[in-house]
Amino acid sequence: MNLLYEKYAAEIKHILAKYPADQKRSAVMPLLYLAQQEQGYIQKQDLQMIAEILDISATDVGSIVGFYTLYHDHPGGKHRLQVCNDLPCALRGADEFLEKLCENLGVQVGETTPDGLVTIEAVMCLAGCDRAPLFQVQDAEGIRYYENQTVETALQLVEHWRSDGATPAPSPLGLRAGQEKSSTPLPDETVTGLSAEVRDETASDTAATETQETD
Ligand code: FES
Repeated sequence: MNLLYEKYAAEIKHILAKYPADQKRSAVMPLLYLAQQEQGYIQKQDLQMIAEILDISATDVGSIVGFYTLYHDHPGGKHRLQVCNDLPCALRGADEFLEKLCENLGVQVGETTPDGLVTIEAVMCLAGCDRAPLFQVQDAEGIRYYENQTVETALQLVEHWRSDGATPAPSPLGLRAGQEKSSTPLPDETVTGLSAEVRDETASDTAATETQETD
C-alpha cells in the first residue's frame, strides 16, 4: 500500500501528467517536495513510496534529498537558517560567522534552538560567493536570501522571529533571476534598502536554485 499515493492521488497524477510516461522519474523532485510538506522533512518511508511511484530505487530518490539543500532528511525548527561555508565564503569569514552565530544561539551546527524556532545548518555554495557571509532561510513563507551579513544582522532576524514580528527584520534580497514570487510575501520593512520579496519554494525552483549562477 502506497500511503503517499493514497493521500495525494490527485496531486501525484497531476505531477506525473507533466512528464512523458517513459520519463516519469523526472517527477522525483516535485514528489519529494509534496512528501516534505507533511512533516517538514523527508522520512525514510517517503523514499520508498516515491521510488515505487516512479519505478526507481529508493537510493536514487535518497541521493536527490542528499544533494539539494531544499530537501531535509531530519526534523528542523520553524525556520531553517542555512549558512554557506563553502571555500569561497570561508575566505570571506563564513566559518567565523557561523561559529559566532551558533555560539550566540547556544547551538551547534545542525541543531535547533530549544524553543524550536531556528535550525542552523551549514550548506554548500548558494551562488552568492562574493556576498558572503550569506545564508538562505527556509520556512513556511518560502525561501529567502540574506547576503553580506554580520552576526548582529542575523541575530536581529532571529529576534524578529522570536518577537513574532514586533522587531523589524532585516529585509531579504530581491528575487534572483529566474525565480518567481511567493504568494506569501514577508513584511517589507527595509533595513538594507533592498525590497523584501520571497521566492516561491517549488520543486522546479529547487533545480534552478541549486544550479544556476546568478548575476
Ligand atoms: S561558496 Fe558560498 S555562495 Fe558560493
